[in-house]
Amino acid sequence: MIPVRTEDGSFTLDSPALGEHYHSLFGAVTESRHVYIEQGLRSTEKSKLDILEVGLGTGLNALLTWMECGPTGPQVDYLALEPYPLPQRLRMAADHISSINAPGKEKGFKAMMSLPDSEWLELQDGFRFRWERQEVQQLEMKEAFDLVYFDAFAPAIQPAMWTLDVFRRIHRAMRPGAILVTYCAKGDVRRAMIQAGLMAERVQGPPGKHRMLKALRPE
Ligand SMILES: C[S@@+](CC[C@H](N)C(=O)[O-])C[C@H]1O[C@@H](n2cnc3c(N)ncnc32)[C@H](O)[C@@H]1O
Repeated sequence: MIPVRTEDGSFTLDSPALGEHYHSLFGAVTESRHVYIEQGLRSTEKSKLDILEVGLGTGLNALLTWMECGPTGPQVDYLALEPYPLPQRLRMAADHISSINAPGKEKGFKAMMSLPDSEWLELQDGFRFRWERQEVQQLEMKEAFDLVYFDAFAPAIQPAMWTLDVFRRIHRAMRPGAILVTYCAKGDVRRAMIQAGLMAERVQGPPGKHRMLKALRPE
């Protein structure tokens, strides 16, 4: 795994084994902010919410979400799924703390990323975090989340993450009215989401990518 600088100056990881990057080369932080924060978190009006992330990876989405919390932001309980934790050396090589200028968050971020399985960590500003070394294919939770960040590797690389069965599990885990966001805009993925019971539409994507998907579990 090799750290790579992306167009906005932030880093991602390149997995030569998969032939895939953890984030967009047009800008790792720019993509995460647009897809998960702008189109996801900021589009909900909830002041308290449960978030599910599929694919914790380097922890960038979790860190950006924590930065949104605070006196004027929401309170968040965050569960991330990640069956293949990165070694500490690589997580730190992505150096998100410097890229997004979050100096006070260094210690907390390190604690998050080395947290034992399923243990809650209470950070400042109403942000609670835990992660499970579990595959999304094993997800059994029901009506537990208001927002889902679906950040799997691309369908061409990891098709088993984008199946009807997975979206049925996600649908079941979402509360009525909950939202799912993903950088992917593929027609097959959208159709699988719709078949699973979600209302999925293409919306404005991040720089370098015309569209992305946003889906709602109807009330
Ligand atoms: C595109 S990367 C996620 C990037 C991440 N959100 C970040 O901010 O760095 C996809 C992640 O999905 C994880 N993954 C692979 N198989 C999975 C599975 N079956 N269930 C959940 N996550 C999986 C990978 O290990 C990888 O960390």
